[in-house]
Amino acid sequence: MSAPEIVIVVARADNRVIGNAGTLPWHIPEDLKHFKKLTMGKPMVMGRKTFESLPGRLPGRRHIVITRDRQWQAEGAEVAHDAEGAIALAGDVAELAVIGGADIFAMFLPLAHRIELTEVHDTPEGDTLMPPLGTDWRVSSREMGGPIIDFVTLVRD
Ligand SMILES: NC(=O)c1ccc[n+]([C@@H]2O[C@H](COP(=O)([O-])OP(=O)(O)OC[C@H]3O[C@@H](n4cnc5c(N)ncnc54)[C@H](OP(=O)(O)O)[C@@H]3O)[C@@H](O)[C@H]2O)c1
Repeated sequence: MSAPEIVIVVARADNRVIGNAGTLPWHIPEDLKHFKKLTMGKPMVMGRKTFESLPGRLPGRRHIVITRDRQWQAEGAEVAHDAEGAIALAGDVAELAVIGGADIFAMFLPLAHRIELTEVHDTPEGDTLMPPLGTDWRVSSREMGGPIIDFVTLVRD
């Protein structure tokens, strides 16, 4: 069994905001399409709050949810209590999509191989910030995704 490529998928505003009041601070259809394309068919790892922020189960993707609560369960969720448990649950897969929020990004940043970052060129109000990425990442590609967004791929050597 080989270890999966761990890919962080995040949309982050210029002021590092990623969330507000349990939801996304923006509605950007181009980014939702991009997110779907990046995650389809892959197991997704997320925090319990992000899971609860979803409008429902996202079709075609496993939902691996990290919580400290040993009793917690929800329909459509596979439960883990730490990064190692989530990776073990994912099993023998090529790629694992880590989809947030802030706590779970912080937990997986040291383990990640790639970041698929949507830069949202705005400064919305928010209560959830992306943790600093660290300095060892380099941009491997960048493309315009819409009027105020860029799709940026970061890797580290
Ligand atoms: N822009 C984006 O790309 C993006 C992506 C995802 C989410 N978001 C936004 O971000 C917000 C939600 O993110 P969040 O940072 O508040 O929460 P989160 O990371 O989704 O979930 C936090 C929960 O994860 C569990 N957890 C955290 N650290 C843990 C650890 N060390 N061990 C075990 N479990 C742990 C805890 O669950 P329990 O409390 O159950 O123990 C904690 O309450 C929402 O506004 C959402 O819309 C934005």
